[in-house]
Parts: sequence; C-alpha cells; structure tokens
Amino acid sequence: MPTDPIFTSFEPRHVDLWGQTPLRLSHRLDRSELFSNEALGALIDHYPRDGYSLVQWGEQGTERGSWREGELGGMPGIEAIEAVARSRIWINLRDVGAVDPRYAALRDAIFAELRAHMPDYGMYGEKIGILISSPGSRTLYHADLPGQCLWQMRGVKRVYVYPTAPPFIRPEHVEGIALSGVEVNMPYQPWYDEHATVYDLEPGQMLHWPLNAPHRVDNHDCLNVSMTMEYFTDEIRRSHMVTVANGIMRHKLGLAPQSRATSGPGFWAKAVFQKALKNTPWVKRENKPRKPSTFMLDRARPGVIIELPRQAAE
Ligand SMILES: [Fe+2]
Repeated sequence: MPTDPIFTSFEPRHVDLWGQTPLRLSHRLDRSELFSNEALGALIDHYPRDGYSLVQWGEQGTERGSWREGELGGMPGIEAIEAVARSRIWINLRDVGAVDPRYAALRDAIFAELRAHMPDYGMYGEKIGILISSPGSRTLYHADLPGQCLWQMRGVKRVYVYPTAPPFIRPEHVEGIALSGVEVNMPYQPWYDEHATVYDLEPGQMLHWPLNAPHRVDNHDCLNVSMTMEYFTDEIRRSHMVTVANGIMRHKLGLAPQSRATSGPGFWAKAVFQKALKNTPWVKRENKPRKPSTFMLDRARPGVIIELPRQAAE
C-alpha cells in the first residue's frame, strides 16, 4: 500500500461491502492541486471540443429533459468556472485521463489502490471525468451501466441512491439504457425519495453504489467540483451481455426474457445471440452527433447566457 494512500479510511469490511450497498469512503483528493480553479481552467483551455459538454439545465422542478448544450465562446477556462459559479450550467470533462497525463496518473493510482485492496475483483476499462457544476444544479433520476463512483472535491451535493429493485428499476429500464444509450428516461416518483439512502457528499468523500442503482443529485447552493469514475469487471460485462440480449428479445422480438443468469447454457446462448445482433443496423445504437449548441457564455458578463441564433445552431 502507498505511504500516502488516496483512500484514507479503507478498512477490511469495505471489501465485503463494495458493490453490495451504498458505501461512502474518505479520500484526500480534495486537497489535490489538480482540482483547483487554476488547474481546471488550464485543463478546459486545452480540452478537445468533442471531449466535453457545456450544459444548461432548466430550473429545479421543470420538465425532465429540458437541457441544452452551449459553447464557451472563447472564454478562458478559469473565467468559464466563474461563469458556472454564477449561473445554472455545468461543464462535464469526459475521460480526462485520455486528455492529460497527470489525471491519467491519478486514475491509475486510484485503481492500483483498489486492486491492492481487492485483488480478486477484476476491474478494468476504468475512466474518470470531471464535473464542474453550478449552485443548485441537479442531475435527474437515472442509472448507469458500468460500476460507478462519485468523488467530491469542492462544494457539497445531496446524492439520493435508490434500491436496485422494482419499482425503482426494472430489467426493461436497464435494457432500454443499453439499447438507446440514454440514461435519463426512467420513471420517477417523488415518493421514491422516502426509500433512498441520502448523502450530503462533502469534499474528501467518495460514494460507490451497487451496479445499476438508480440515483439523482441536487447540488447545495455552491459551486461543485466532482470526479466521476467508472469501471467494468467480467461480471459487469456478462450482465451487460444479458441485458442487451434480453433487450433485443423484449423490445425487438416481443418476447419476455425469463432469466438474468450470468452463467450456464442460457447465458452462453445469449452471449452469442447479442454478439451476432448488436452490431447489425437493426439493433446498432445510433452514434448520435452532439446536440446543436443553442447558447454561448458572455465573456464580458460572467454567468450571463447569450442565445445563439437558430440558423447558427443548426
Ligand atoms: Fe450516474
């Protein structure tokens, strides 16, 4: 184990709890220079355009899906962070390890520690991303396909984690995400919150939850800097193959799948079935282009949004 571990409170019981229940652990990355305004501003300045999203959400309580993408409009990254702090937008820097070697080293150090703690867990395909989000920003109720952790660096966010059982999530919801690539079209009722585990995630805390557990996030009234982390294991891959096969059966063939087993002859038949079909035009997920940008940040007035003319947005 390194002399200055990233996880500052990893205990033997956490190996047994990992992936089984929502789990909050302590870390020291909130003290890392890599998440300061200066470092993040410089990172944004050099980020490839296809690697990040600038998104404006509607007000809390508005229609789900009322979000749109925008442009920095030549604004330096450090000013863009100031604009985020003063408005209702967020910047999502995807797969930051593929863009900057310092963050790749951080990702590798985190997973080296996790592998040392859990040598048999078999994580691979790991990625990290950085989310800079405004006071009051919210992420709607959804579920993700890979294993997921959320690391808090600055600010506080309230995270609701829901049970991995109906009615919170049904197999057809996971299948819908796998086939469409859209995470936020799951039914949600406000009373679901009474059954959620709720955390006010603070700097120096990381949250992990069971595979496919639905969750949603409400920022407190402060700028938030968070790191998202995802990974696969063989079991997650097998679960994904079954999801795709069952999704094809249910949504394309009108059959009700009877099993989510990830071993045995039924599993292997599905593994072959989904591999044969998933890249055909019949099933293949459309590689949708980015949403057209409909707004731009105003460098002269941090936090002010400029509407882009419609023809320029298309
Ligand atoms: Fe998520």
